Amino acid sequence: MTEVIIVKNQDEAGKIYAQRVARLIEQKPDCVLGLATGSSPLAAYHQLAALVKAESIDVSQVRGFALDEYAGLDPQHPQSYKSTINRTVVEPLGLDPDKIHVPNGDLSTIKDAGTMYDEAIEAAGGIDIQILGIGTDGHIGFNEPGSSLASGTRIKTLTEQTRIDNARFFDDDINQVPTHCITQGIGTILKARHLVLLAFGSGKAEAIAETVEGGISSFCPASALQLHRRATVIVDEAAASRL
Ligand code: GLP
Repeated sequence: MTEVIIVKNQDEAGKIYAQRVARLIEQKPDCVLGLATGSSPLAAYHQLAALVKAESIDVSQVRGFALDEYAGLDPQHPQSYKSTINRTVVEPLGLDPDKIHVPNGDLSTIKDAGTMYDEAIEAAGGIDIQILGIGTDGHIGFNEPGSSLASGTRIKTLTEQTRIDNARFFDDDINQVPTHCITQGIGTILKARHLVLLAFGSGKAEAIAETVEGGISSFCPASALQLHRRATVIVDEAAASRL
């Protein structure tokens, strides 16, 4: 069942996520967080960091797995998702970096990296709460339209549109944007015990309507949330305007 919560702004959405995660950490100090990049989750991380500080919550045992990574980009590159997750989540929350995993985009070992990543998630006991953004075309992680709803973590080719969208992070130069990525599959994402998808602004309205009320189809990868027992979609009024 998909629970839809309409909020005033990103901070309000972030507070809902932060409360849920804080209570989870209290119940299960070594819980496993599913982490995402993109602008949509930033307020949620910010609110969680504030709550952790205000309530002196011990996060030293918290574990985490990121959704995706560029392939063939040095993990030290400021725009790698490894660096991004460090900057936006690990450092502000004071998490133990050794407990936070990002898919390995090293081209020399990428063939087996997806399977190994899924095995590592399973060995950790699975993801307790997975935060998600959504692309304007309904993609989650880097699972573009047409991705199998049963897919595991694997290498994918980035669409031209996603490379154009992400060029803003690479000096507005599409030639610097990697052509491939490694992403958790939709099947991997669906294994998390709780999914929280955040979307803001009218640009996401069409994708949100397809996700929540459209048919379940690989043409809108996020519509797979309808197959999940516990999916929460938190949107502002603009993103909810087509519902
Ligand atoms: C990228 C990321 C996705 C993210 C999407 C939307 O493609 N791989 O995980 O959801 O961008 O990003 P934003 O939240 O900035 O709109």
